[in-house]
Amino acid sequence: MVGTRVLDLIRFYSSKDHAGESLMQALILAGGKGTRLRPLTLYTPKPIVPICNRPFLLYQIDTLKRAGITDITLSLSYQPHKIEQLMGDGSDYGVHLKYTVEPQPMGTAGAYKYAENLIREPTVVFNGDILTDLDLKSVIREHKDRKAVATIVLTPVENPSAYGLVETEPDGRIRRFLEKPKADEITVNTINAGTYILEPRVLDLIPEGENYSFEYGLFPKLLMMNEPFFAQTPQRTYWLDIGTPARYLQAHHDLLANRIARIHVKKRLGNFDMATVAEVDEMSVVADDCMIKPGAQVINSVLGQGCYVEEKAVVENSVIWSHTRIGAGAQLKGAIVGRGCHIGRSAFVGPNTVLGDKASLTDYSQTGEQAQ
Ligand code: GDD
Ligand code: MG
Repeated sequence: MVGTRVLDLIRFYSSKDHAGESLMQALILAGGKGTRLRPLTLYTPKPIVPICNRPFLLYQIDTLKRAGITDITLSLSYQPHKIEQLMGDGSDYGVHLKYTVEPQPMGTAGAYKYAENLIREPTVVFNGDILTDLDLKSVIREHKDRKAVATIVLTPVENPSAYGLVETEPDGRIRRFLEKPKADEITVNTINAGTYILEPRVLDLIPEGENYSFEYGLFPKLLMMNEPFFAQTPQRTYWLDIGTPARYLQAHHDLLANRIARIHVKKRLGNFDMATVAEVDEMSVVADDCMIKPGAQVINSVLGQGCYVEEKAVVENSVIWSHTRIGAGAQLKGAIVGRGCHIGRSAFVGPNTVLGDKASLTDYSQTGEQAQ
């Protein structure tokens, strides 16, 4: 009894910052299978696919850290060990990481409920596949000012059909939440950006031990109960769900072109060997231990660690994971190539090509669209 009380006190004090203001906790939903990113996600779960050679989760952790949040739980289900092994206790990244692993996927709200024992405070919940430079501090401030029980961050998109459509009242209250609306159901262009601030009491509204979703379950329930459930649409904020190959590539191009206000590539060029007559343009990112042979060109692309680019090969607008070899005279344009692949000499690998780890293309292969 006394032990529990002491533990509670420790929890209470460790959740306060120096100024005595209560800090938030965070839960990152990182349990999906990432099916739309296959074959990239066969051996690398979506939350840790590299974006400019950094595991994706680190960008989300940066967003949380900018808001002073360091108590972070990762909610895992698919290939959890790979994520745990890479991220450890978070000390390398200046945060405290905890993990929950569902025996089987519990759904988005089910995953939050499953982490109940680790959640005492108001919690920021992130979908684990959103690249954003959101100013989370101001979102949290407004959530508190409005005494909301739940807040959803919204973002405008061209076509809401792949997302959760959210209609709001003039005062910011949510009027309607409609997941994956059909074409004739689209009334607004604002969608659920996959960032929520939740007060712990919403945990009581989620059934235990069941697959349950925020989108189809909890959010409609909050509306039915007329709870203070608000939306915020931050201005000038970058937002992208990286969950398809096209958007995964887009995230790279936006970062390489410095189009994201609060996220920048820290170091473009690692320690690698390059012939004097080869070219790496100023946009590209090249990791350590690469070799770029004479006449080769790397343009607006990312090379992971230990890649070989042979004579006169051209890598343009592409993302190449570590330890891949690109044969002489091969051309890669707008492609995504997994780890440890082999691209034969004079191959043409065109836009929309996605190769999984260890793929091997024979010499003179042609994939994707080639200009005639
Ligand atoms: N732990 C756990 N368990 N995580 C899960 C589970 C689960 O059972 N199911 C999904 N997730 C995680 C995924 O890993 C992902 O990070 C996040 O929850 C959202 O799942 P997605 O499969 O990527 O959903 P979506 O992109 O179709 O739609 C969601 O995101 C949109 C924004 O990108 C919805 O929240 C939409 O309303 C939203 O607009
Ligand atoms: Mg998604």
